[in-house]
Amino acid sequence: MPRLGDIMDTAQMRHTKLWYAGKAANWALAAFELGQLKGGLVEAAQLYSGIPASNVTTLAAPLQALAGAIEAKDGRRFAKAYGELTDGCNSCHAAMGRSFIVMRQPADQPFGDQVFSPQGKR
Ligand code: HEC
Repeated sequence: MPRLGDIMDTAQMRHTKLWYAGKAANWALAAFELGQLKGGLVEAAQLYSGIPASNVTTLAAPLQALAGAIEAKDGRRFAKAYGELTDGCNSCHAAMGRSFIVMRQPADQPFGDQVFSPQGKR
């Protein structure tokens, strides 16, 4: 069984990649990363009954908004929904006595070995 911290570390990676895919207007990659991120959060909620379900459900709205922005290929809506999702990450951390785990919009692109711009544009 994966440890919650490991599921979260993977979620962190997807959260970061999602941002860079959206920023590069690579909507196919953004949709993929969003699906991966969602899957991880669902898994966390299923495996760890101790985590407040309300905090997972709170994320449903921003996740839905992100999906809509990606579908509409709308960078501005994407950025706004991304901020709301990130607030949702932090509210759960605070609710679970982990207010020292603070997520934000990524500041530096750490995945130097992955191309985020749509295919053909490097
Ligand atoms: C439903 C509650 C909940 C939500 C929502 C949530 N987390 Fe977490 N997260 C936790 C808990 C609880 C821990 C502490 C796990 C532990 O103690 O091992 C944690 C830990 C983490 C860690 C630290 C992992 C480590 O071992 O260093 C990261 C990074 C993280 N979360 C990222 C995120 C991101 C990004 C999101 C939003 C996309 C998010 N979390 C949403 C509950 C949540």
